[in-house]
Amino acid sequence: MAELVGCITTSHVPAIGRAIAGNLQDDPYWKPFFDGFPAIREWLARVRPDVAVVISNDHGLNFFLDKMPTFAVGAAPQYRNADEGWGIPTLPPFAGDLDLSWHLIEQLVNADFDITTCQEMLVDHAFTLPMKLLWPDAGDTWPVATVPVGINTVQFPLPSAKRCFDLGREIGDAIRSWDSQRRVVVIGTGGLSHQLDGQRAGFINKEFDRKFMDSLAEDPAWATQYSIRDLVEFTGTQGIELLNWLAARATLGDQAQLVHANYHIPISNTAAATMAFATAN
Ligand code: DHB
Ligand code: FE
Repeated sequence: MAELVGCITTSHVPAIGRAIAGNLQDDPYWKPFFDGFPAIREWLARVRPDVAVVISNDHGLNFFLDKMPTFAVGAAPQYRNADEGWGIPTLPPFAGDLDLSWHLIEQLVNADFDITTCQEMLVDHAFTLPMKLLWPDAGDTWPVATVPVGINTVQFPLPSAKRCFDLGREIGDAIRSWDSQRRVVVIGTGGLSHQLDGQRAGFINKEFDRKFMDSLAEDPAWATQYSIRDLVEFTGTQGIELLNWLAARATLGDQAQLVHANYHIPISNTAAATMAFATAN
């Protein structure tokens, strides 16, 4: 059976794409964020995943306000990067893993998740920037195949934290039951606290972010006690992207081994954070 090696969670601010393109990793503004990655890349080099399941939210590239799936799973042979307006360099296409896509889809539907299957899908900054942060030296071909999973964190009503946690648990079970010798890593992107619009634009909540990060290490279901309304109040209208983190962490079960954590304020208007967990032995 396939092996789920661990999960990685990281922010996905579009400006990271410009910083990478401009080689600003050691710039004083950016260094504290980019410093979160070398330890995780070393871990990746040891666990050598073949496939990445990337849980993120589409920002209007595939799904606009007229059609908004709560949960979407990619089932395409290839995912092209398109930019939804940030002016960041377009990255080379990402190979899909159709076998894992359809296995995930079948398992999720059997478990009563009503998902949208996407046999064509573009990927935006929420998918591409974490990939580039984790595999900066990838040229035209990425070292892992990919399966994108989308959670609606954009247009209300959003799925509850509990529902996203349960989705993650089911994705973990599906990966572990995949009849394959391949090694899989799950990546959850977005967050942490940020609000880009409205009266609270610029809102950051370090205390909550820290509690949430601690909870992923010690008690991963902790955030499921809160409603979406509570979580938006705690983290901001875009901080709710933490649902992607919650689903990613849930794939590993209760116990997981923290590989590395990094938290820095601010990048753009966000609390920028990164964590990695290895599957518990
Ligand atoms: C920003 C953050 C995001 O999560 C996003 O998707 C777009 C922009 C920002 O801080 O600028
Ligand atoms: Fe975002």
